[in-house]
Amino acid sequence: MMIVHTIQEVRAYVREQRLAGKTVGYVPTMGYLHQGHLSLIEAAKEQCDVAVMSIFVNPLQFGPNEDFDRYPRDLERDAALAAQAGIDLIFAPSVDEMYPAGNGKSLTHVDVEQVTTGLCGASRPGHFQGVSTVVTKLFNIVLPDRAFFGMKDAQQVAVIQQMVYDLNLPVEIVPCPTVREADGLAMSSRNVFLTDEERAQALVLSRSLKTARELVASGERDVASIVAAVREEISGQPLAQIDYVELVQFRGLAPIQKIEEPALLALAVRFGKTRLIDNTVLTTH
Ligand code: PAJ
Repeated sequence: MMIVHTIQEVRAYVREQRLAGKTVGYVPTMGYLHQGHLSLIEAAKEQCDVAVMSIFVNPLQFGPNEDFDRYPRDLERDAALAAQAGIDLIFAPSVDEMYPAGNGKSLTHVDVEQVTTGLCGASRPGHFQGVSTVVTKLFNIVLPDRAFFGMKDAQQVAVIQQMVYDLNLPVEIVPCPTVREADGLAMSSRNVFLTDEERAQALVLSRSLKTARELVASGERDVASIVAAVREEISGQPLAQIDYVELVQFRGLAPIQKIEEPALLALAVRFGKTRLIDNTVLTTH
């Protein structure tokens, strides 16, 4: 396992692998790795000859009042975990390496329309522009055959898939299932910020998603009723502040009134200073 910090070194490594006829799997992350990230490495190792991970807390995707400065970082710990999971190369660039214009700014941006308007796109203006811009850059640096993304960030998967399709980027996007703690909490680098009380109450997220699946299984198809039931369950926890609960078409994330095709129920809820997201796919059969 190697850790490199420059674009030139990643390119040299990948060029060598390609010349040897190897396929390259790629897992982009912001580090502070947990089992969710490691499951993406496992998928990459299964499907490709070599696996590359990037660890870069991307300033472009954080709003001015968001947690860029306090986002958890620990490269040594991450390197040990990723090595154990079988990663071949870690690319951990500095902000200046990725954004040579200075101050973590880019003069060029990638903007995906429509799929970015609802859910996190509405509550985090500019977030997905930051994600699509950095992911385009990372794809151009790593030139992977396949890139692995978690369904924990379902809207991010939709945005990246749209971008790859629209811009003819030569990479296959592989969505992977959300990994959860034994009690149902979706793994997230931000979970370390939760107090014991917040963490206990945060279990309402996965519980309310289960309630919604049960409602659909028992025949409920009305989006407003399902959203209302989920909001009510979450509001039962005194520390929970709902950012959004949205139920949209799974493909394209367009608004719907009735569940007929697979739908995405996505939510973002604050517990103290920590904003958590979770989602589930609802199907009628
Ligand atoms: P980050 O939040 O570090 O997540 C990196 C990858 O891990 C994403 O594809 C995310 O969906 C996946 N992931 C996170 N938690 C997961 C879980 N519990 N189960 C399965 N997969 C999980 O997402 C980002 O970084 C950034 O936006 C990035 C794409 C790297 C661009 O900066």
